[in-house]
Amino acid sequence: MHILGIETSCDETGVAVVDLSERGLLVLEDVVSSQIALHEPYGGVVPEIAVREHLRNLPRLVPKVLEQARIGASDLDVIAVTEGPGLASSLLVGNAYARALAVASDVPAYGINHLEGHLFSPFLADGTELHFPFVGLIVSGGHTLLVQALEFDRYIRLGATIDDAAGEAFDKVARLFGLPYPGGPALERLAESGNPEAYDFPRSLPGKDDLNFSFSGLKTAVRYFYEKHPHSHGDEQWLADLCASFQQAVIDVLVRKSLAAVERTRGQSLVAAGGVVCNRALRLALQRACREKGVRLLVATPGVCTDNAAMIAATAAFKIHYGCEPEIGGDINPTLSLFSPEPEGDFNKGLLLAKKLRGREPGQLAQ
Ligand code: KG4
Ligand code: ZN
Repeated sequence: MHILGIETSCDETGVAVVDLSERGLLVLEDVVSSQIALHEPYGGVVPEIAVREHLRNLPRLVPKVLEQARIGASDLDVIAVTEGPGLASSLLVGNAYARALAVASDVPAYGINHLEGHLFSPFLADGTELHFPFVGLIVSGGHTLLVQALEFDRYIRLGATIDDAAGEAFDKVARLFGLPYPGGPALERLAESGNPEAYDFPRSLPGKDDLNFSFSGLKTAVRYFYEKHPHSHGDEQWLADLCASFQQAVIDVLVRKSLAAVERTRGQSLVAAGGVVCNRALRLALQRACREKGVRLLVATPGVCTDNAAMIAATAAFKIHYGCEPEIGGDINPTLSLFSPEPEGDFNKGLLLAKKLRGREPGQLAQ
């Protein structure tokens, strides 16, 4: 079964084809047309530019991706498109294109939750099997979320940021230092030659049981520190130490909260995804902490951490596998949630539900 994925939730136009067969899921082609250079002069995403580029890219990229995957439009069985959350205007372009193509090709279309796409992106790696339950950490430019995935389409919100997303904090601090947009990769490059223990910035870890995040205090502390030392701004090592210390503060919080979430849900597996997971120091810290605690860790490969369409097509494949019907005339939803209202935020209900669904103690992996 050939599934075409289309992702236009923000400033990247993603088009991919995956093949779903008895042998599993195979990514045939995954192309992302980056708009970074166009948005960079503005220091962030300009919705009008993003729309114009999606409109230009899709009619060019879709035939190219099909050709590279060595299939024709008539070989497509399903079309999957991000329906939300994201920028309304960007989502509209992708949805209009995908749904028109689905009608013209007489194939079903699936609207996909972008966050569910990120959550399942680690399962795109060769030989990785999808097992529930697990705790998912999604860290991107727009989201910082800890979820308990009980089974397909049954997610409990364990924690989220109450202010900036982790990627947003990287982007804002990088901007303060005059680094190019998006700030995460640029800041990481500088941090590589810095000392992460040079400066002790606050780690926001409210109450042991609180799995929410807050990065605005850290961001403000770094800003005050930077502004207090104007004479050091030209000192490369000073800036590298500052980047490394900021990065370490973010990593410490992400790792500690993720492990606390696994412990709290009596889980055994942690799945990490989203743009910030490209960060090598974060990947290493997660690996180290999970090894120490005996937690199975699955991290998205760097190629599918940032926004891409392979994760959207793959989520449609899981939907098909779990018997979800495609919706007719689906619409976009810029504020689409990952959670059904029922068990949201209620850990005890989540534990009971996990027991009921699986008929065994929550936390045990499916065989
Ligand atoms: O998942 P993504 O492509 O888009 C959203 O859905 O938001 O994530 C983009 C975010 C940006 O904030 C970017 O700065 C951050 O991921 N990012 C990184 C790194 N690479 C990308 N943050 C830290 N270190 C990195 N290496
Ligand atoms: Zn994303």
